[in-house]
Amino acid sequence: MKRTVFDLSGRSAIVTGAGRGIGRACARLLAANGARVALAARSADEIDGLARQIASEGGEAIAVRTDVTRRSDVESLVERILDAWGGVDILVNNAGVFQMKPLVPTLGWTPGVASLVPGFEAGLDDDDWYRIVDTNLTGVYRCCQAVAPHMMGRKYGRIINISSIDAEHGLAFAAAYCASKGAVRSLSKALAREWVRYNITVNCVAPGYTDTGLFPPIASSEELKAETARRNVPMRRFADPEEIAFPVLYLASEQARYVTGESLVIDGGVLA
Ligand SMILES: NC(=O)c1ccc[n+]([C@@H]2O[C@H](COP(=O)([O-])OP(=O)(O)OC[C@H]3O[C@@H](n4cnc5c(N)ncnc54)[C@H](OP(=O)(O)O)[C@@H]3O)[C@@H](O)[C@H]2O)c1
Repeated sequence: MKRTVFDLSGRSAIVTGAGRGIGRACARLLAANGARVALAARSADEIDGLARQIASEGGEAIAVRTDVTRRSDVESLVERILDAWGGVDILVNNAGVFQMKPLVPTLGWTPGVASLVPGFEAGLDDDDWYRIVDTNLTGVYRCCQAVAPHMMGRKYGRIINISSIDAEHGLAFAAAYCASKGAVRSLSKALAREWVRYNITVNCVAPGYTDTGLFPPIASSEELKAETARRNVPMRRFADPEEIAFPVLYLASEQARYVTGESLVIDGGVLA
């Protein structure tokens, strides 16, 4: 991981969904640039392993097993970090889930993606909807609500919400996901205005197609990944998670102090 011009020495950060993918890259990059980082996710083995790796790279990290759909978990996470480090300066709301299902069954039409997704034919049900919205949107609300009083008291905060290009354009068979990410964008703009007087900035980073395990059918097939990139991405490749982490580092830094309510789209030209 690279040290950059951005110096986060003395700052403490929480990264949700830090065990793998984009969250992992964000946590490593923030730590490599001086921040103490709390790693929050449900899979203890992944965040414990990352905490050890960050320590071996000379950084400081604590792994705190957290499910962002549980308010008690989120509150314990924040308490733990306040006890350990005395404050939270940076919150990266990255934890997220994705699913492809039609809102209602497709009346005998079988789109290509159907064969890749168990249960596609039945369409989205309430459990699917609430799981996606509860993680991707309500999880952001919970984490913001838990850290903001402490940021307000210290008159300093950097909140970075990982939204998606799917907040801006529709992706068929991903209605719940698109709705959750569009709402994260709106929530971020509202909180940017609400908390501007406390020197808390709230921004989004909106990734395009990124090489992680978010959608296993594509993640597990290099052929499908290449085909998806060729069809959808002007740069004809997926982003590396580190390419999403750099704008997160910028927005977490002192240099981004005049940026709030914004969304940085990192997508290899998809929305161009
Ligand atoms: N990959 C892409 O193409 C892409 C594009 C646009 C936006 N994004 C967004 O980027 C973010 C990261 O996704 P990724 O691609 O890095 O996916 P990923 O590799 O599947 O990682 C997702 C992370 O979120 C955590 N997570 C999921 N549910 C959670 C919960 N209830 N509580 C706490 N942690 C939870 C997972 O850990 P556990 O399962 O252990 O909890 C994991 O660490 C997501 O918000 C996603 O929507 C991704």
